[in-house]
Amino acid sequence: MKSEQKKKTGTARLLQLAATKKPLVIGSLILSALASIVSFVPYIAIYLIVGEILGALPDMANLNSTLTIQYGWLAFGGVVGNILLYWGALVCSHLAAFGTLYELKVNFATHLAKVPLGFHVMVGSGKLRKITDENIEKVEGFIAHQLPDLVGAFVAPVVMVIILVAVDWRFGLAALLGVLLAFFMQFSIYGNEGSKAMMAKYQKSIEEMNNASVEYIRGISVVKAFKQTVYSFRRLHDTIKAYTAMVIPYTLSWENSFSGFTTLVNNIYLFILPVAIWVGMKTTDYASFASTVIFYLIFVQSIATILMRIMYVNGNAMRIIGGVEAMDQVLAEPELIQPAQPQAAGSHDVSFREVTFSYDKAKETEALSGVSFRAKRGEITAIVGPSGGGKSTIAHLIPRFFDVTAGEIAIGGVDIRQMDTHYLMDQVSFVFQDVFLFKQSVMDNIRMGNQNANDEQVIEAAKAAQCHDFIMKLPKGYQTVIGTRGVHLSGGEKQRIAIARAIVKDAPIVVLDEATAFADPENEHLIQKAFEKLMRNKTVVMIAHRLSTVRGANNIIVVEGGRVTEQGTHDELIQKGGKYHTMWQTYTETASWSMANKKEVRTHA
Ligand SMILES: Nc1ncnc2c1ncn2[C@@H]1O[C@H](COP(=O)(O)OP(=O)(O)OP(=O)(O)O)[C@@H](O)[C@H]1O
Ligand SMILES: [Mg+2]
Repeated sequence: MKSEQKKKTGTARLLQLAATKKPLVIGSLILSALASIVSFVPYIAIYLIVGEILGALPDMANLNSTLTIQYGWLAFGGVVGNILLYWGALVCSHLAAFGTLYELKVNFATHLAKVPLGFHVMVGSGKLRKITDENIEKVEGFIAHQLPDLVGAFVAPVVMVIILVAVDWRFGLAALLGVLLAFFMQFSIYGNEGSKAMMAKYQKSIEEMNNASVEYIRGISVVKAFKQTVYSFRRLHDTIKAYTAMVIPYTLSWENSFSGFTTLVNNIYLFILPVAIWVGMKTTDYASFASTVIFYLIFVQSIATILMRIMYVNGNAMRIIGGVEAMDQVLAEPELIQPAQPQAAGSHDVSFREVTFSYDKAKETEALSGVSFRAKRGEITAIVGPSGGGKSTIAHLIPRFFDVTAGEIAIGGVDIRQMDTHYLMDQVSFVFQDVFLFKQSVMDNIRMGNQNANDEQVIEAAKAAQCHDFIMKLPKGYQTVIGTRGVHLSGGEKQRIAIARAIVKDAPIVVLDEATAFADPENEHLIQKAFEKLMRNKTVVMIAHRLSTVRGANNIIVVEGGRVTEQGTHDELIQKGGKYHTMWQTYTETASWSMANKKEVRTHA
């Protein structure tokens, strides 16, 4: 079922989505088709009435008034019937649409919960939100409105042609000739394929323009601070120009054909009149001739409406298809493979064995190649190295944000891919640099680490993480809702909340990526104290730029260009005189330099 689902694209895929609620959709389509047929009844009724009246002339006393009035009711019934049937069609289609929408969203959310966490890190919540809120929402519009209208739009021309030819084929053929000419004008320039390609270009161009303007507005503070107004405006300017350069010639290319189409379609009686003159000259039955001419002159007006509707239905479908494609792309993202027989970790040592990993499987570039090391319980394993070396990648692989390309990561000798994801998550706490806090109370935000923790445990953790004092200064203490007016936490404060979270979680393995990044010297001391509690008797994998924080680590691993180049204790590595030694020298120099600088500023002040 699933693999089949992924193959369908375009309209076929839309119809497949609509089929989720098949009976309702079919009901809606039938009702809509009937509504479309019934909408022609008033024309027929008027034709019959005119025939009756003209047949009775010159003496109106001959008029069969009962029959005429019945025809009048028939016209009325046609109008009411059309409204009721269309209403019924919309009720069915809306029920189907909301049902489908619900299933799609649940499906999408379930899938998101099963893809590797790294997917979320890479795609970003903004894009996923756009897909659920906007793109999937469009499917609702398609099933609720476009689908019934689509059927109407295709049934109506068929009935129209039948009626045109059935009443009087000579008039009918003349009218059809007009319609054919109109269509010929419209589609002579671009074939169906050409217009499809153009539509894709058009969509892409709009998207680029939207992205550029969002970026421009988001970055406006940076732009102003650096007085970059003109240059940063350039990208937005360029996309608008590109859009204009594409759309204006495209629009102009339709100038003649579309005007021709509209003009013809609205003036079909120009084709009818010559036929009328020709037939009129030969006829002897003026009454029926006149009623036929009157019928065609009235009926022909509806041709424009019917044909225009076909054009619009088409344009809308293309926009929705783009949205569905974005959804399908996410759905095609492979889910994290769950082991058939989940195993538990033997101990809590973490070991990397010849781990190779690349973010983009299609490309050759590897973020990690042949990385091996062992982080033991009760020890601190520090990872250091130049920016872009692969430190964060190592951190993300431990809780299985991504699966390794080759090699193996094991906890207590058991491959993490052999563990149930929930179980693995219970084993690992992580504090990453960008801390996300929910719009909930501080208490609940810390409890996120462990739903079973009671208030006392949360407060104890907060104290250990050195956040108790600043929390007590918030307007409502632990009950303060983060993100409300006037409540703003600094980067370092957020980070300490994240540490408190990790403390209540009390998982045996702790992964810290740049967790002291925000710390100033005073703050760093507090955070170090917070760590003491967190790290006691745990397997700690710690990444830090500030080498003073890793100096006391049991094992320091130097990662450069995705490879482990050195490992050992601080003293061993200093003795070795390799990369770590150089890094340490640079670090102590800059540290003393900045201290000296500070003193200087002070004496000047
Ligand atoms: N989401 C991603 N998609 C593609 N490539 C990535 C992604 N994240 C990181 N990389 C690449 O992987 C390599 C290692 O990045 P990583 O973030 O692990 O470095 P790092 O050592 O943590 O650097 P820093 O000290 O700056 O945080 C880099 O070349 C980077 O460009
Ligand atoms: Mg990093």
